[in-house]
Amino acid sequence: MEATPENNDLTSSPQGPSEPAGSEVAPSTDVLLSLRGITKSFGAVQALQHVDLDIPAGQVTALIGDNGAGKSTLIKTIAGIWAPTSGSMYWEGQEVHIHTPRDATHYGIATVYQDLALCDNLDIVQNMYLGREETKMALLDEITMELVTTQTLKDLAVSSVKSVRQVVGSLSGGQRQAVAVARAVMSESRLVILDEPTAALGVSQTAQVLELIRTLSSRGIAVIVISHNLNDVFSVADRIAVMYLGTLVSHGPIANYDRNSAVEMITTGRSDRVPSLHTSSN
Ligand SMILES: Nc1ncnc2c1ncn2[C@@H]1O[C@H](COP(=O)(O)OP(=O)(O)OP(=O)(O)O)[C@@H](O)[C@H]1O
Ligand SMILES: [Mg+2]
Repeated sequence: MEATPENNDLTSSPQGPSEPAGSEVAPSTDVLLSLRGITKSFGAVQALQHVDLDIPAGQVTALIGDNGAGKSTLIKTIAGIWAPTSGSMYWEGQEVHIHTPRDATHYGIATVYQDLALCDNLDIVQNMYLGREETKMALLDEITMELVTTQTLKDLAVSSVKSVRQVVGSLSGGQRQAVAVARAVMSESRLVILDEPTAALGVSQTAQVLELIRTLSSRGIAVIVISHNLNDVFSVADRIAVMYLGTLVSHGPIANYDRNSAVEMITTGRSDRVPSLHTSSN
């Protein structure tokens, strides 16, 4: 799905029903998830302050920002790990309450955390089905699980894995990342969130994971990827969202940014080259 320039500008008005009067921009059909006024406090720490963000289907949104900027807190809020202190979320224009990971799964939100949470001593099929094994007459349905695993990896164009019966501990970093992504998307995922998926990877493994991200978005899945690596960001993202000290300071199509302006936004929260969300007018 293509986003129109109108719904991608840096100063786009919020669309949710809770918005103040005066924001007349109609909801875009391409927007899968909308966050409005999301705030999250941990005691005295305001980790997120009034975040408004639209996540379109079929596009890769890179969430960038310095250490402690609030990126992980934001995705954990979307993934149902943290309930927001205040604010609203809309899924295809309808207000939703995502307060547990199970709620997130219900909407097709799959999150791959940085530690991947795979079991090294189990093979790929066992990892894919951990905690949700298929059974047939009270026995594990190994054939179905193996076939679905093989097909899922094939759908994601993962070709470097020799056997789905290979123990995960023997896989390379990129292959492990692929298994974690495959596990996340095996059930009907509509939004896949990846926290630093290439942080520990070499050049060719990074290329594989970036290709996997492109495959997801080409299938119409919305992707949010947290990354500190601007090479990855500029290679794979359609959109950028910049967090600074808990605030979303800028977001828009990748074409609105270059590396210098992205670095400026990350380190200072503003850039003369990119209109900030708080200073530009509609
Ligand atoms: N469980 C928690 N309890 C208290 N404070 C927290 C908690 N989780 C995060 N914070 C605080 O919220 C702020 C944002 O943290 P967060 O982990 O979201 O940053 P980040 O952008 O993901 O950083 P990094 O790039 O280092 O991963 C930080 O000040 C952090 O100390
Ligand atoms: Mg983080």
